[in-house]
Amino acid sequence: MHTTAPSTAAAITVNGRPCALPRPTAALATLLHVLRNDLALNGPKYGCGLGQCGACTVLVDGVAARACVIPAQGVVGREVTTLEGLSARCGGAAAGLHPVQQAFVDEQAAQCGYCLNGMVMMAVALLERNPEPDEAAIRRELSANLCRCGTHVEIIRAVQRAAVLMQEARA
Ligand code: FES
Ligand code: FES
Repeated sequence: MHTTAPSTAAAITVNGRPCALPRPTAALATLLHVLRNDLALNGPKYGCGLGQCGACTVLVDGVAARACVIPAQGVVGREVTTLEGLSARCGGAAAGLHPVQQAFVDEQAAQCGYCLNGMVMMAVALLERNPEPDEAAIRRELSANLCRCGTHVEIIRAVQRAAVLMQEARA
């Protein structure tokens, strides 16, 4: 749930909307804690809690970041995008999905799905700064994230498909 930030409260912008940081947690909480527990944005997942697995990935000012190790106070005044905000970020696709999300659906790039938030957010960050990555660039980008189910081949295909979908959307 989003709440409009009072002018005196520390606020972060999440998916284009100002959100007040809850005062009791503001000093200590991680960004992931605030997103999931205070704002009910459950796209980012808690995996390792140590910045290692990537399940909690969000975009901060357009750059992929691990929400489990970022203090919420550290993103005051910055733009945070979660999985829930991706559709609006690309102007909103007809089906309500960002092209990267659509490509993951098309390629059936999931088993348990726990890693997908991180994989999708990493792919969005990559394709926004490099619209035509080769396979090596995709592998490099996603190698920082863990998938315990071993769906890497399908995930790489999904990112390649997403690049095409995003180019078509721009044409
Ligand atoms: Fe954040 Fe693993 S939960 S990197
Ligand atoms: Fe299960 Fe990646 S699909 S962890």
